[in-house]
Amino acid sequence: MEVRVANVRKEFDRFPALNDVSLDIRSGELIALLGPSGSGKTTLLRLIAGLEMPTAGKIFFGDTDASEKSVQERNIGFVFQHYALFRHMTILENISFGLKVRPRSTRPPAGEIRRRALELLDLVQLSGLEKRYPNQLSGGQRQRVALARALAIEPGVLLLDEPFGALDAQVRRELRKWLREIHDRTGHTTVFVTHDQEEALELSDRLCVMSQGKIEQVGSPDQVYDHPTSPFVFGFIGDSSELPVTIENGEVWVGGRAIGIPAHDTPAGAARLYFRPHDVDLIEADASMAGVVTTSRRVGGTRRVELEVGGDGHKVEIDLPFDHPAGEKTRLSFRPKRWKLFPAA
Ligand SMILES: Nc1ncnc2c1ncn2[C@@H]1O[C@H](COP(=O)(O)OP(=O)(O)OP(=O)(O)O)[C@@H](O)[C@H]1O
Ligand SMILES: [Mg+2]
Repeated sequence: MEVRVANVRKEFDRFPALNDVSLDIRSGELIALLGPSGSGKTTLLRLIAGLEMPTAGKIFFGDTDASEKSVQERNIGFVFQHYALFRHMTILENISFGLKVRPRSTRPPAGEIRRRALELLDLVQLSGLEKRYPNQLSGGQRQRVALARALAIEPGVLLLDEPFGALDAQVRRELRKWLREIHDRTGHTTVFVTHDQEEALELSDRLCVMSQGKIEQVGSPDQVYDHPTSPFVFGFIGDSSELPVTIENGEVWVGGRAIGIPAHDTPAGAARLYFRPHDVDLIEADASMAGVVTTSRRVGGTRRVELEVGGDGHKVEIDLPFDHPAGEKTRLSFRPKRWKLFPAA
């Protein structure tokens, strides 16, 4: 099912939780909503589900205006941010629930419901646990049951609000790999909310970055990571270093020296330079950035150092091989291999 969010605004007591949000969700894609706390991710999911109504704008399911569809008619599978299974029901009863409560005319026969629930239990790799109760499962197992339950109704759209939020990093990594596999097998149109950029980059077909009730950028993980269109997205997705610079004579200047980077079409005057800490060359050249190491720490297989550059206290981070001898007060010259310039606000 294709979902089109068109110029949607949502106010709570005049506070705009969403402001003119438009998003086309393609049939069968897995799209991740990513953004800081309070940016409107849950609100957008609840609007799609029909649990809230927009203050302005429209949502379409295919060609149909969703405001003409009830929550049931939207046929949505939802796994909430703080999700609880029914504690007094077994795992099998939990998964079967959405089918059992259907009106008689659309409810499958009992044997068919049981068969489908067992099939889903197998899909989420929990076969044999159908008679247990939720408190007899681990957190990761419970999340998988929640997902099986959402899938049981054969939803047109699957909405997942930080389904793995409460789990530890290792379990999250396993579950997201597994979610991707399930998605590829079942092909449900899926909107997945996460705080975790690594999760969003790894899992999604497209990424929708939100901030303060607005969509900042939508694109494939590569597009968003390699070509952020705003300082916010550059700073939010992936590690970044940022520095005030001056554009003069078509070049970028830092602390009174040109650093060997062309300004292209950034206008003369104040600007901000963004680059990734791992995307730098250490070079000895006049046209480079020079700085003094202020801190140095080991991050995985590399050494990340903080440098003071340009003489007015601005600091950037760059990555060095972990066995690089630089320590505090070492002077280093470098130049970003890839970068992005934004005019100063
Ligand atoms: N029912 C409500 N009444 C009043 N304000 C609300 C309500 N629901 C959400 N808000 C406000 O709308 C904004 C967006 O909230 P939302 O829950 O969509 O954020 P979020 O991106 O999901 O955040 P998080 O990552 O913390 O879950 C917040 O400022 C929140 O306080
Ligand atoms: Mg939320």
